[in-house]
Amino acid sequence: MCSPRFFRVEYEINPWMDTGVPVDADLAVKQWERLRETLVELGHTVHTLDPDPALPDMVFAANGAFTVDGVAYGARFRFPQRGAEAAAHRAFYAAHGWPYTEPVEINEGEGDFAYLPGVAGGLILAGYGFRTAPPAHAEAVEVLGRPIVPLRLTDPRFYHLDTALAALDDHTIAYYPGAFSEASQRVLHRLFPDAVLADEADALDFGLNLVSDGRHVVLNGDAAALATKLAAAGFTPVPVELTELKKGGGSVKCCVAELRPPPPTTTDPPTPR
Ligand code: ARG
Repeated sequence: MCSPRFFRVEYEINPWMDTGVPVDADLAVKQWERLRETLVELGHTVHTLDPDPALPDMVFAANGAFTVDGVAYGARFRFPQRGAEAAAHRAFYAAHGWPYTEPVEINEGEGDFAYLPGVAGGLILAGYGFRTAPPAHAEAVEVLGRPIVPLRLTDPRFYHLDTALAALDDHTIAYYPGAFSEASQRVLHRLFPDAVLADEADALDFGLNLVSDGRHVVLNGDAAALATKLAAAGFTPVPVELTELKKGGGSVKCCVAELRPPPPTTTDPPTPR
């Protein structure tokens, strides 16, 4: 995660951003701190990057890379205003000894990649249409060695995959079908017939921009209707207020880059002869 100490809306690169609307940076920091504490209370380890005053969107840490099994596939941002964020993430992975691949293709990290470890040996769902370039999907396959399902986003309000779809546990997703092309909707329905379906209002509440540990689902407090659907599906919703960051076009998930470490090596005793 990265503190929104320098968060501002000083350019418009998605339909949620309006440079004419004032942002309360102190409130943004308070709300973000509450999100961080919530994740810690749920038992997660949270690392933070130092915010850079020249990078007002750096709070949206999910966009900095995508990791699977201890390997990081770096980001290359679509818009120059965010370009320098990638190096800060790269430095984090280098400092922590993670293999890191610098991408050739434009991709915005976990903003456009979701991971389902329990499907097909580890399935990546990948968005395109607004930010991530389709060739990045093939590049990610080569770096991460996992199958990828490309999904076309068609509604500019849901410009990143993580505004329209979320992994709830190893094999379950929630998504808003209307954010995807008809063919992509069919693909999602075939792969995930038991998904939690969100409607347009849930998606506009940024409800799908969530972080789940498989049981607790941390999501934007505005998304009460989606919280009810998640509870009915057996999950425990944990609402947090992030009104200020919504002005930048992001919520819970955008603030969190998930670190997926290597699987534990099995220490089975040698087979007796
Ligand atoms: N203002 C940022 C942008 O438009 C918001 C990024 C939100 N991040 C996300 N993972 N959806 O790039």
